[in-house]
Amino acid sequence: MIRTEITGTGSYMPEKILTNKDLEKMVDTSDEWITKRTGIKERHIAAKDEASSDLAVKASRQAINDAGIDKNEIDAIICATITPDMLFPATACQIQKKIGIKEVAAFDVESACTGFLTALTIADSMIVSGNYKKVLVIASEVLSRITDWEDRQSCVLFGDGAGAAILSSTDKDRGIMSTYLGSDGRYGNLLHLPAGGSKMPASEDTVEGGLHYIKMEGRESFKIAVKKMAVSARTALKKAGITIDDIKMVIPHQANMRIINALAKMLKIDIERVFINIKDYGNMSAATTAVGLDQTLKSSKVSTGEIIQLVAFGGGLTWGSVIVKI
Ligand code: UT7
Repeated sequence: MIRTEITGTGSYMPEKILTNKDLEKMVDTSDEWITKRTGIKERHIAAKDEASSDLAVKASRQAINDAGIDKNEIDAIICATITPDMLFPATACQIQKKIGIKEVAAFDVESACTGFLTALTIADSMIVSGNYKKVLVIASEVLSRITDWEDRQSCVLFGDGAGAAILSSTDKDRGIMSTYLGSDGRYGNLLHLPAGGSKMPASEDTVEGGLHYIKMEGRESFKIAVKKMAVSARTALKKAGITIDDIKMVIPHQANMRIINALAKMLKIDIERVFINIKDYGNMSAATTAVGLDQTLKSSKVSTGEIIQLVAFGGGLTWGSVIVKI
């Protein structure tokens, strides 16, 4: 039986750090409010000349080295992002060009903060079908470019970063054990970017109205996030035929420390077994779980043979979970 194992990972966050204290000088907020209500202390911000593909290339090179493969062994590239370099061509094709990978399938997926799990699910299906052997899966975001730096409710939450993984075909008893994805388009307005698409093309009015920035109904998103992340985790566990007690580490999307705490409570898992890096990076949308995967696998928190579970939630609304035996 063909299965999909994760054979290498990488991540990259831009050099510049924006602290809560820095934000105090930009909007009417305080380090105390942000820390207490979100758990975030600082986030990384891309340089002017850094686009999503630039962050992605750095994370991908690490993942390729970590997997110990030649870049030309990769036979597909999938990039999850809501901040592509351009609307088209796909950022995955830009990454392919910059790394210098031969002519292979390359495309983007867009399911906001759930994007990395969507990309993992697609890559898993491609590998299990027998048609692909090694897929480079990336999540890269430069959210600072679509953040309204005058909106104190949302600008304190987001950061830039990228994570990448090499998924490889294996016949061993390890790798992806189950995947689950869900969505409900009726809640699309809770978290969206109104202008710049075919519905509302860029114009003087859209720029004037700040319609190229993230719009978020924080409180409502929060409630659904907790519920749907718990549902996702439980569904993926059921599909894998295991329980939460079999999971060594849960790697949740990092939107708010209070969401993570509530999820841990609902799943009845000790917070020690939940990966948390929100303090240092904030919410990097799709890149969050990709970076979490890299940092978990490179830590002493897990070892070969143990099982980890990724869980995410985001705009769409979308949600999902992926369980992996490492
Ligand atoms: O990536 C996945 C999707 N994203 C999410 O799931 C985001 C989920 N939502 C959240 O994380 C939270 O709803 C926020 C962090 C965005 C907001 O926290 P909250 O506890 O829900 O605050 P709130 O919106 O209920 O606002 C409480 C108060 C308000 O003041 P009043 O009306 O009580 O006087 C806000 O104006 O806090 C105020 N406030 C702030 N104060 C200082 C909102 N943002 C800030 C701020 N600094 N940055």
